[in-house]
Amino acid sequence: MTTNNYQQTSQSEQSASAVDENNKNTGARPTTEPVIAIRDLKKTYFLGQTRVRALRGVTLEVYPGEFVAVMGPSGSGKSTLMNLIGCLDRPTSGEYWLTGKAVSRMSADELADIRNRRIGFVFQGFNLLPRATALKNVMLPLLYAGHSRGEQLRRARKTLQLVGLGARTHHMPSQLSGGQQQRVAIARALVNDPSLLLADEPTGNLDSSTSLEIMAVLQALNLRGLTILLVTHNAEIAAYARRQVVFRDGRIVQDEPIPSTTGRSAQADFDTLATHPPDRIPTRDTLERSSS
Ligand SMILES: Nc1ncnc2c1ncn2[C@@H]1O[C@H](COP(=O)(O)OP(=O)(O)OP(=O)(O)O)[C@@H](O)[C@H]1O
Ligand SMILES: [Mg+2]
Repeated sequence: MTTNNYQQTSQSEQSASAVDENNKNTGARPTTEPVIAIRDLKKTYFLGQTRVRALRGVTLEVYPGEFVAVMGPSGSGKSTLMNLIGCLDRPTSGEYWLTGKAVSRMSADELADIRNRRIGFVFQGFNLLPRATALKNVMLPLLYAGHSRGEQLRRARKTLQLVGLGARTHHMPSQLSGGQQQRVAIARALVNDPSLLLADEPTGNLDSSTSLEIMAVLQALNLRGLTILLVTHNAEIAAYARRQVVFRDGRIVQDEPIPSTTGRSAQADFDTLATHPPDRIPTRDTLERSSS
């Protein structure tokens, strides 16, 4: 378990090493090293004469095993932050340490290695290869990483089982439901055993029941120790995370843990929805109407 000192640490001016030092001295902060430590991160896009200040100074720490929902209005900088954390883009200024290593000082090779091995990505569109089976789609990152075919098969099968698709390995994406396709994308993101899963609106294209299916998978993976950062517009989806970070105009305006007592189980909610479809769940409205 991580402790809930997010607000103090996320808004602090301290460097990651200073925070570590603090851990040793006071024991007040998590003693483990953060997976992500960013300090005063800024990103400005230049479009001709126009400057877009997408991130205006973001300070944030994420510890191993956390499940963070990133929320905020459209254009507030959520995807920009995810792209920087995922080493897909470089900040205009500020510092970023990934598992204790300063990203700005990494070589191009090291960055590519981090992207391929340490971070898994899931997006709103599933981005699967349409003419490859679920198994082949999941094997692909292992092929790029240079693993033998036997190892690719073994690990891809195991990861598809982990997301509940052990019986669908030979299906093409077109033969899978939206939720199953997104689960293949999650398996593909996880097959290299990354330390961090970045998911930008993974349920954005899915109906509410299928969104719960995906959140149940993410919650189960988080319980196994995976650190997850999830961008969502949907407060109901964010309620399944264990911490909520809210963006506005390129800044974090709120950063709060979700107490375990109010935490929700996506699997339980999915089961309820499956046994009581929405039109059969009695609401106050329908009860009043039926009694009048
Ligand atoms: N490549 C780019 N070039 C120029 N401006 C960009 C670029 N990418 C994003 N922006 C701008 O930066 C700001 C933040 O964009 P970002 O995509 O991070 O928002 P977001 O919070 O993810 O929004 P949404 O919820 O709509 O996905 C926006 O004003 C956007 O127009
Ligand atoms: Mg976005």
